[in-house]
Amino acid sequence: MSACAVEKVKWGMLGTGMIASRLARAFKEVSNALLVGVASRDGMRAKAFADEHGVPRAYEAYDLLLFDEDVDAIIIALPNSLHCEWTVKAAEAKKHVMCEKPLATSVDECENMIEACKRNGVLLMEAAMYRFQPQVELVVRMISDGSIGEPRIFHGAFCFPIPNHSNIRYRPELGGGCIFDMGFYPVDFARLIANGVPVGLCAFGIVDSECGVEVVAAGTMQFPNGMLAQFECGFQNDIRTYAEIIGTEASVQMPDPWTSRGKRKEVWLLRRREYIRRFELQDRNSYALEIEHFSQCILSGSTPLIKPEWSMETVATLQKLRQLVHERAAN
Ligand SMILES: NC(=O)c1ccc[n+]([C@@H]2O[C@H](COP(=O)([O-])OP(=O)(O)OC[C@H]3O[C@@H](n4cnc5c(N)ncnc54)[C@H](OP(=O)(O)O)[C@@H]3O)[C@@H](O)[C@H]2O)c1
Repeated sequence: MSACAVEKVKWGMLGTGMIASRLARAFKEVSNALLVGVASRDGMRAKAFADEHGVPRAYEAYDLLLFDEDVDAIIIALPNSLHCEWTVKAAEAKKHVMCEKPLATSVDECENMIEACKRNGVLLMEAAMYRFQPQVELVVRMISDGSIGEPRIFHGAFCFPIPNHSNIRYRPELGGGCIFDMGFYPVDFARLIANGVPVGLCAFGIVDSECGVEVVAAGTMQFPNGMLAQFECGFQNDIRTYAEIIGTEASVQMPDPWTSRGKRKEVWLLRRREYIRRFELQDRNSYALEIEHFSQCILSGSTPLIKPEWSMETVATLQKLRQLVHERAAN
């Protein structure tokens, strides 16, 4: 390699679904990573995905990609219920792992994943892509520098309709349900703002009587610093994306806190109902940013932004919220 050539991490992708496609497109914007392999349960599907995204190698089984010695890191783009199994297998094959959010569907699974990655000396990071969007860094900085005083109340919502009942989110055995899917975002972000784990929780929801997953949910969490966080999520209602943090002195509003759609991002600062400042930020490709960050961690040996222990605490919170919704729905 010449002195000025950029060192690149070679990646493999497990799965060929919706998020796998977005991630494959994002690789084209990243300078320190290459997507060199993709694996599917179906060889034809792997080949079609590889052709569409210009991926050199396609595998007809996930294991086969893990045997590829020319792959340094794996993206787990599979249903939630498969995150643990394939993270552990990838770690055993000495591959670094970026696993889609949520890290898993239980704390036990998270512990197994973390232990397997530590034992095999590989890095593990949850692909919580919203964290890489510059607006999130801005808002976290505004909270820590006291721009709104003490954060007292958090509101966060993420809803969009999914009419197709064969979607993985309608399948309980695959870790479906709106709490682990879109509920992840406001719950994880509230934790980031409060910098802690909730000490009190309540949640209500609507459980689909046919498939048994929650399709709408709302709840409240209280954090050790006293902050109250309210969240809403659902996939049988209109689109809603929103976050607001109300502090003792001022408030912050984020109309588009989760997604990365190529539009500009706005963050508003309000005091006494007056809009006093508007920040306009370039919408960066969050998927490209997370791939670039994790690749840089692999190349330099630095610690990823999202530690797996943090992700496990979010899973613990989601697990409790889901349990509350289902207990109430059963009574
Ligand atoms: N970060 C984000 O922005 C974001 C957005 C959406 C989803 N996600 C996360 O990404 C993961 C995948 O979600 P997705 O929306 O991409 O799902 P999807 O479109 O249904 O894709 C899932 C893929 O997993 C594979 N798979 C393996 N076993 C399966 C099974 N029993 N049933 C269905 N698919 C199976 C399939 O690939 P093969 O058949 O080719 O093996 C399928 O294409 C989830 O963990 C989700 O939470 C993240």
